Amino acid sequence: MREARRLLSLAVGSPPAGLGPADRVPPCVGRRYRTLLAERGRRVPFALIEGETGFLDFDLAVGPGVFIPRPETEELAERAVAILRSLPPRPLALDLGTGSGALALALARARPDLSVIAVDVSPRALACARKNVRVHGLERRVEVRRSNWFSRVSERFHLIVANPPYVARPELPSLDPEVRRYEPRRALDGGPDGLTAIRAILARAPQHLVAGGTLLIEIGDGQGGEVLRFARGVPSLVETRVDRDLRGRERFFSGRCG
Ligand SMILES: C[S@@+](CC[C@H](N)C(=O)[O-])C[C@H]1O[C@@H](n2cnc3c(N)ncnc32)[C@H](O)[C@@H]1O
Repeated sequence: MREARRLLSLAVGSPPAGLGPADRVPPCVGRRYRTLLAERGRRVPFALIEGETGFLDFDLAVGPGVFIPRPETEELAERAVAILRSLPPRPLALDLGTGSGALALALARARPDLSVIAVDVSPRALACARKNVRVHGLERRVEVRRSNWFSRVSERFHLIVANPPYVARPELPSLDPEVRRYEPRRALDGGPDGLTAIRAILARAPQHLVAGGTLLIEIGDGQGGEVLRFARGVPSLVETRVDRDLRGRERFFSGRCG
């Protein structure tokens, strides 16, 4: 019902609060509304229809081929922002697999002396992240860079955040149609057991962290044990742990460079 009302507002071109039950709309608006309803009926995600989504307290443009940020990633952002408070002046952070730029922007907005490098391999994600960085006026502190994980990253960071693809390939067909049909496969497919990208990031992160720097990765429920087992074999990665999200699911891996 709320979505239907918002679709109607999109068709009319006015904010939801501007429409009352007694309002009449012209036929062209009715046609546009039916088109939008049909799109949603085909399970096109609402954020893609609208072309934007909310993340924490700000808006982000999204589009085809760009992962739509999720509520659990807002929790990751909040954890990362809490870590930022303890960092020295003018710290540097890395957002691996930035997508729309959600995490990079959340970090840069939270601390005005922070610089962020945001990397992705997807040209559409990179274009979208650059647009969002521009819209938020953060071009001087957020650099969007094409890189295959660390391939074009030589800096060392106080904080590295990542929400990598972590769905096990055999589980892809059972995802909701909104996700399966419209999210880019590269954003979801974590390989045979879901951990291919997570292992690649864990193995190389310590070389890109300053001493005491933190690595924070979003993981899938049920992956905690294996992620910890792998992480504990990575030299220089200490204080490794997995925390649960607000729904009680294993969700956040963290570790520090010892
Ligand atoms: C689950 S999405 C997360 C996007 C964004 N960080 C967020 O939380 O909304 C994973 C992102 O990783 C990117 N990605 C996948 N493989 C990559 C790689 N080898 N190197 C860099 N980025 C990659 C995808 O293009 C996608 O944008």
